[in-house]
Amino acid sequence: MKKMKAVIPAAGLGTRFLPATKAMPKEMLPVVDKPAIQYVVEEAVSAGIDDILVIIGRNKNAISDHFDSVPELEVKLQQKGDHGRLERVMKSSDLADIHFVRQGEPKGLGHAVLRARTHVGDSSFAVLLGDDLIDERDSLLIEMIAAHEATGAAVIALMEVDPAHIHMYGAAAVEPTDTDGVVKVTGLVEKPAAEDAPSNLAVIGRYVLPSSVFEILERTEPGKGGEIQLTDALQELAADPDGPGVVGVTFRGRRYDTGDRVDYIKAIVQLAADREDLGPGLRPWLKEFAERL
Ligand code: UTP
Repeated sequence: MKKMKAVIPAAGLGTRFLPATKAMPKEMLPVVDKPAIQYVVEEAVSAGIDDILVIIGRNKNAISDHFDSVPELEVKLQQKGDHGRLERVMKSSDLADIHFVRQGEPKGLGHAVLRARTHVGDSSFAVLLGDDLIDERDSLLIEMIAAHEATGAAVIALMEVDPAHIHMYGAAAVEPTDTDGVVKVTGLVEKPAAEDAPSNLAVIGRYVLPSSVFEILERTEPGKGGEIQLTDALQELAADPDGPGVVGVTFRGRRYDTGDRVDYIKAIVQLAADREDLGPGLRPWLKEFAERL
């Protein structure tokens, strides 16, 4: 089987993070000491993917520069004998074969994914949102690729959320299947009001899609928020009895939505507290701080 390519949309406006995102994409915001998007690239690489297309918007250079080598910095670190940092700096330029394509205007996630059509061709592909982090200690993408290989369906990742929060996500109507952790998706609604949501199963930022989704996206009209929504194209796949259908893999691990300010702060605190190099300095202070709240 041909190796799967990954697409990372990172062309959104990041308005929730303004003014930090005025001159920098939100995917470049540091989570401890790496930009969010590097975690996402590393996740794709751990799932066996080595060809990654990043969809970039304005301020494109920050992302492409990050994955490029910086010889003068490398020479400086070498001269200083700072091998630890040198290794970490070089890692980001050596992770995978990373390509970039522009989304001229941020017309929505569906529109961003459609920009990948030429690069992806007629193979199935993975989509990982550049501001959505899955903890590297938990696994999701590998299960999703396996579910796609077993069924041929479009695969989405679902997570149970508080019903009061479902209006911030795509919500799925589902039926059980014979496989544990895999459900059949019978319908999808983008950002429904709590009373209209078919369930509290939220669509999170990982997808494994058949290339037939491109034809659907080509004719998907702007939906919620005036944007071309990937959820609307997937709803069409879910509703087509003659197509490959949509299945969901339920995720119960740790996920951080770094596009949201509170979740972003939680991600930094949790990841830093768990790290061997930073945790010992941070944890006692955190405890003391929590007691003062
Ligand atoms: P979001 O809705 O979280 O991104 O899109 P946003 O629009 O930048 O966020 P706010 O609400 O203004 O703060 C989910 C993902 O899809 C990408 C984003 O970069 C993010 O990774 N996206 C969204 C695009 O690439 N293009 C778009 O037109 C919209």
